Amino acid sequence: MKEYKILGLGGSLLFLNGEFDIDFLKKFRKFILKEIKKGKKFVIVVGGGFTARFYQMSASKITKVVDEDKDWLGIHATRLNAHLLRTIFREVAYPVIIENIRKKIKGEPKLIFGAGTRPGWSTDYVCALLAKKFKAKEIVSLTNIAYVYDKDPKKFKDAKPFKKISFKEYKKLIPSQWKPGLSLPFDPVATKLAERLKLVVKIVFGKNLKEVKKAIEGKKFEGSIIYP
Ligand code: UTP
Repeated sequence: MKEYKILGLGGSLLFLNGEFDIDFLKKFRKFILKEIKKGKKFVIVVGGGFTARFYQMSASKITKVVDEDKDWLGIHATRLNAHLLRTIFREVAYPVIIENIRKKIKGEPKLIFGAGTRPGWSTDYVCALLAKKFKAKEIVSLTNIAYVYDKDPKKFKDAKPFKKISFKEYKKLIPSQWKPGLSLPFDPVATKLAERLKLVVKIVFGKNLKEVKKAIEGKKFEGSIIYP
């Protein structure tokens, strides 16, 4: 039985200037369908991106919103986005979005979509849980940033990218606690689980599908590898 490729599809990649990035979604669809034709199988966990931020921010403007409720808004945003993906992959996708890890999956679908599960983490954690469920050894995380940096590259021009970094070193760079909307290459709760499961996490700029392909195929790619 061929191993499932576990992909995290960062929600921010779905959008461009407050609208869906139709051009990217068309290219992504074509890319995945081609890989499936070649025999690959995918589990794709879809993020919340603009939808999540928009709901979380709007609710917070009206009244004080507790973190758990911000997370729930985020979770439903990931589920809505995942439904969009399932819809545009109708011909091959498993009809149910995985929101409960324990639920049995019927047959051996070529393409499965996952979304947010419970408050307290991001879809990165769902990727790690699904890697465990499907006995996969790595996660390819399609993010809106090409590398893990030693500091925020938007704020610091001299930020240094890492081609490879251990979980131990990566944990020193990020906050240890979860906060709703926290934007990191890989979230702290997911990092702890991935380290425990001895997974490899590949961080790659998701709009560059050439590099995504290389990362999936185990070739040298432009991005970061977080290793146990
Ligand atoms: P994302 O995984 O999309 O996180 O979940 P993100 O950091 O915002 O990543 P981008 O922007 O999509 O790339 C969106 C929000 O949904 C909640 C969290 O609040 C998260 O910030 N969430 C998601 C959960 O609480 N639990 C989950 O299992 C998934």
